[in-house]
Formats: sequence, structure tokens, C-alpha cells
Amino acid sequence: MERWSSTGAFLLAAIGSAVGIGNIWRFSTVLGQNGGGAYLIPYIIAVFVFAMPLMILEITLGEKFRGTIVSAFRRINPRFVVIGWFLCVIVVLILSYYLVITGWTLGYTVLTLATDAPLFSEFSNSLLPIAFFVIATLVTGLVVSFGVNRGIERISIILIPACVLILLILAAYGTLLPGFYQGLTYMFTPDFSVLADPLLWGAAFGQAFFSLSVGMGILLTYGTYMKSGQHIPRFTLIISLADLFVAFLAGLVIFPIVFTFGLSPTAGAELAFTSLPIAFAQMPAGKVVAVAFFAVLFFAAITSTISMMEVGVAALRESLGWSRVKTTIAVTGGILLLGLPSAMSYSSLALKLDGIKILDFMDETVGTLGLPVSALLFSVTFAWYLPRETLESALGGEDGIARWIIPLCRYVIPGVLIMTTIARIASGLGITNTYLLPGTRYIGLLWQLEGITAIVVISLVLIITACRLRGCNLRKRLGFGSRK
Ligand code: TRP
Repeated sequence: MERWSSTGAFLLAAIGSAVGIGNIWRFSTVLGQNGGGAYLIPYIIAVFVFAMPLMILEITLGEKFRGTIVSAFRRINPRFVVIGWFLCVIVVLILSYYLVITGWTLGYTVLTLATDAPLFSEFSNSLLPIAFFVIATLVTGLVVSFGVNRGIERISIILIPACVLILLILAAYGTLLPGFYQGLTYMFTPDFSVLADPLLWGAAFGQAFFSLSVGMGILLTYGTYMKSGQHIPRFTLIISLADLFVAFLAGLVIFPIVFTFGLSPTAGAELAFTSLPIAFAQMPAGKVVAVAFFAVLFFAAITSTISMMEVGVAALRESLGWSRVKTTIAVTGGILLLGLPSAMSYSSLALKLDGIKILDFMDETVGTLGLPVSALLFSVTFAWYLPRETLESALGGEDGIARWIIPLCRYVIPGVLIMTTIARIASGLGITNTYLLPGTRYIGLLWQLEGITAIVVISLVLIITACRLRGCNLRKRLGFGSRK
């Protein structure tokens, strides 16, 4: 059985998984679209009250069960294997398009270094996005094939500190720009009036779960490589703080540039690849800044793609009994095929599905909705079906953090996930205002709706079937019966 070589190595790998494009590009996008500082309060609450307890549960289960996401679900009930594989599929689907964006960051780093930052319209009108997607996928596969020690931890130990260092230098540069204070004010001025908007909360929860990569079995997988008897809550605090720190730091790099050069903070996905290069071109030492910025994006992204691929590789390897290298080759090949349509949608081939670029479609369905649904399945299965005594002893006794974590994971987190998902679907139906959510351009289109509905219906059917097969009494499960 593979093990991290030290606690520090585990922490850096877990931070590597958490810190990704989500922190740098998605965080500033969501912040921009939700009115700047207003968004920070729900976001911080989402991180510490919701994402972190689930993260503690996830790592603890990994460390106790010593298995993959699939075998962890099987331990609770052999029939729950289906849910384990469902989560694996969601992670692999997210990975397939996340790698396309990772490819863009690599492409931009290389092209900026060689000539000038390309215009996104030109870049996405060539075959380069496909080529860089293939390279990013092969790099990810290569690192994973080297294993936990020689691959994953070694790359995280180098790339994560490098990311932070470069961002610190870029943020220091940002303080020299005339738009620095405006950027700072925009980021940190809270507006309490918008807190009543459920969609703002929905956006914050979505981003918190995405950014901490929680509820998808990634941290469970990383937890299995940990030594026993460590203080897991402390680790999750470090991981969450590091993730938040990098997101803030990235905001401090991006917003001063945005305000200095009169760009739009709500530009969304366009920001990193379209607006910022325009600013870089006008800045003193802009080329260096541009290369550094895209390199940070790439470093952050690749440590995340590695963690996602590891989930699939570990699960498949365990069930097929293949070697790590053989499994990784198979998974890499599969992801190349799965991600190709997304990569082609942002190339000269402009592959679309009913007018929507495939990558946007993927992000709007599996990326935005697959995640809460998976986190829901995860928290419900483990917090409800694992005997309370097992949970308590895994969490270090009934008086400790278990007192908080169990009720949070049982009632509050699923409740919030269900509510925000419903709010999202309602916004898709045009019932509420959609402007606050990232990328809701496409919500409301039929395809989009079908995707969402399919995910929700499949999940419900899975849960209900699992309940039935197990002969469980829902009333009792819902807390009306005594279970001690
Ligand atoms: N957390 C990463 C980011 O912020 C992305 C990520 C890694 C992720 N693993 C994930 C997102 C699993 C969803 C599911 O970019």
C-alpha cells in the first residue's frame, strides 16, 4: 500500500488538489458576477461551516477505510457500489473538460513566452487548443503513473510553493498599479443587503465545494495514503485556509489590473483569456507578468487534474487488479476520448450541441450541478448509513468534533445542497432572476435543462432504489425513529 512520505507531502498534495483554476479564474469571476465584496461573507461561511466539515469526514473515512471511493461505498452496503462509480464518472467527466482549460493555460504560457499573448479569438480558432489538451492530459497521466511518492507528491512539493511565490510577486506588482485601491475596495467592501438573495448563497456554496474539491472522493482517496492517528481537523483547516489565501491573492492580482485598464470585473470566463492579455500588452514588463500569470494557472490546474485522475485510477486499479501504469494508460486514453468534444468546441472545428459549445455544456451540467449532487450523495450515504458508533470512533469519540460534524453532514449540508440545487433549477426555468449565477447564459435552454433534470432524477432514483433494496425504513432514517 502506498503512503505519503510525510505529513507535509500530504498537505501539499491536498492543497494542490484544492488550489486550481477555480481559485484564480473561477473565484474572481464568481466574485465579479456577484457584486464583489458582498459575496465574501456567504463564501467564507460556505467554506468553514459546510465544506470543511464534509472535508473532515471525507479524509477521516479515507484514513480509516483505506480504500478507494468505490470500496468505501461498498463497505457501507454492497449495493452502494453504484454510487461510488457514479461519483467516479462525475469526477472523470469534470476532468475531461477541466483538462481542456488546463491546455489553454499551457498554450498561453508557451505562446506568450514564444511571441505575444494570443488573442483568444485567434487561439480558439485554430487547432492549438486540441493539441494542448492532449499534452495536458499526457502530462497528468505521466505524473499519476509515477505513483503517490515519485509522482503526485513530488510535483506538488515543487509547483504549489512556486504558485504562491509567483502570485505574491504579482500581487506586489499590483500594488504599484493606479487601480490597486479600487480593486481592493471592490473586493472587500461588503454589501449586506444582497445576503437575502438565495442565489448568491447558491453561487457561494457551489464555488466553495468546487474550490475545495470536496464531496467527490478526491480527499478520501488522498486520505487513504495517510499514516494513522493524525489530527485531521487541523489538516483540513490548513487546506481550507491555504485555498482561501490563494483565491484572495489571485483576486489581489486580477482586480487591480481590471480597474487600472478599465476592464469589466464581470467579464466571466472571458476575463483570464481575453481581457487580461489586453492589459498585459499595455503594462510595463507585461510579457513577464503574462507568462508568470499563465504559468501559475497551469501549475495550479495540473495539480488538480492529477488529483482527479488519481480517483479514477485508484478505483479502477482496485477493481481490475491491474498495475498502476496499465490502469493509468487506460484512464488517460479514455479521458482523451471523453475530452475531445470539449476541446474541439473551442477550436476551429467549433463543435456545438444545439448551439452550445460542448465545453460550456459540460461546465453547466456536470461541473455546476454534478458537484452538489455528488456531495449530497456522499454526505447522505456516509452520515446516514454508516453506524453512528463507527462514525464517532472514526471522528475521535462521541464528545469531540463528532458532535458537530455528524449533525452538519446529516441534516444541514444535505439541506443546503438540496435548496441551492433547487434554486438553480428554478432559475433555469426562469422562475427567479439568474444574473447572479456564474455562466447562467445557457440555463433556460432546453438542453441545459434536460441535463440538469437527468442528473437530479438519476440521483433520486439511485437513492430511493438503494433505500428500497436495503429494506430501510425512511421514516426512521429521517430521524423519526430512535437510532442509537
Ligand atoms: N478544486 C480545484 C479548483 O479549484 C478543481 C478541482 C479539483 C475539482 N478536483 C475537483 C473540482 C473535483 C470539482 C471536482 O480548481
